[in-house]
Amino acid sequence: MLKGKHLIDPMDLSLEQLDQIFNLADDIIKNPKDYMEVCKGKILATLFYEPSTRTRLSFESAMHRLGGSVVGFSSAGSSSAAKGESVADTVKTIACYADICAMRHPKEGAPKVASLKSDIPVINAGDGGHQHPTQTLTDLLTIRSLKGRLNDFTIGLCGDLKFGRTVHSLIKALSRYSNIKFILISPEELKIPDYIKEEVLIKKDIQFKEVERIEEVIGELDILYMTRVQRERFFNEEDYVRLKDSYILDKKKLKNAKQDMIVLHPLPRVNEISVEIDDDPRACYFKQVKYGMFVRMALIMKLLGVEK
Ligand code: NCD
Repeated sequence: MLKGKHLIDPMDLSLEQLDQIFNLADDIIKNPKDYMEVCKGKILATLFYEPSTRTRLSFESAMHRLGGSVVGFSSAGSSSAAKGESVADTVKTIACYADICAMRHPKEGAPKVASLKSDIPVINAGDGGHQHPTQTLTDLLTIRSLKGRLNDFTIGLCGDLKFGRTVHSLIKALSRYSNIKFILISPEELKIPDYIKEEVLIKKDIQFKEVERIEEVIGELDILYMTRVQRERFFNEEDYVRLKDSYILDKKKLKNAKQDMIVLHPLPRVNEISVEIDDDPRACYFKQVKYGMFVRMALIMKLLGVEK
């Protein structure tokens, strides 16, 4: 049962619960009209203390498409955080107005703290450089839909693996499926944090290798997951400027990739994917955006315990 649960970390959901969410998302995609009123009278609050386009609007469109309503704020400056209110007090207040909330916060662990004080389900919509479980639901539904499976593949994760929370959550989630091989492509300074390597990859005896050059490995990949260098988490601008163009995926690099490889990116992109490949059939990042909305519709329904 998912009703009333919080979603803070991708491991909060069992494989069976993930399947239930994906099956529901598949049905919503096929029969959207059947779901137009299932959340009538319910309110989603979006508490965003950090900028967002996709995640917030995706949650909001998801709720609207289910017939529910939305309240919220889109920056810390426009909430009582600016007056010094704690997230715990904010969420206790929001729980008096809304039935479910999605929170994005620059501090790692803030949504977890909120969930401990909340009477309504709290969804982590990204906490600092830590986790982003609903982007992972998006990524998994995209892979499942486009590749037809969630096991037996080699996935390359490229870019800012240190601060990129989407990568941390995706590795955790995929580590539970069989025969997944990870190729971690990053400059030395932006390598995956040790805790992910030790507590997930090594502990579970999962195959992985770390490389610096995308050209070396692109031919091996079934999925290439590109990421943006996370400027807002750098301590100084100089390092950002030095590292920001480490990877630019273009036609030339894509030449050596498999014909059925898919390129994903949580977006926003800066220039790590050249627009010249947007029309390549392997470029699936805008399809991914759409799956994100459908999977959030399914998640909201499950956490609220509403059915068709
Ligand atoms: C990601 C995020 O916020 O972590 N964006 C998103 O939610 N789709 C990735 C990023 O900002 O680079």
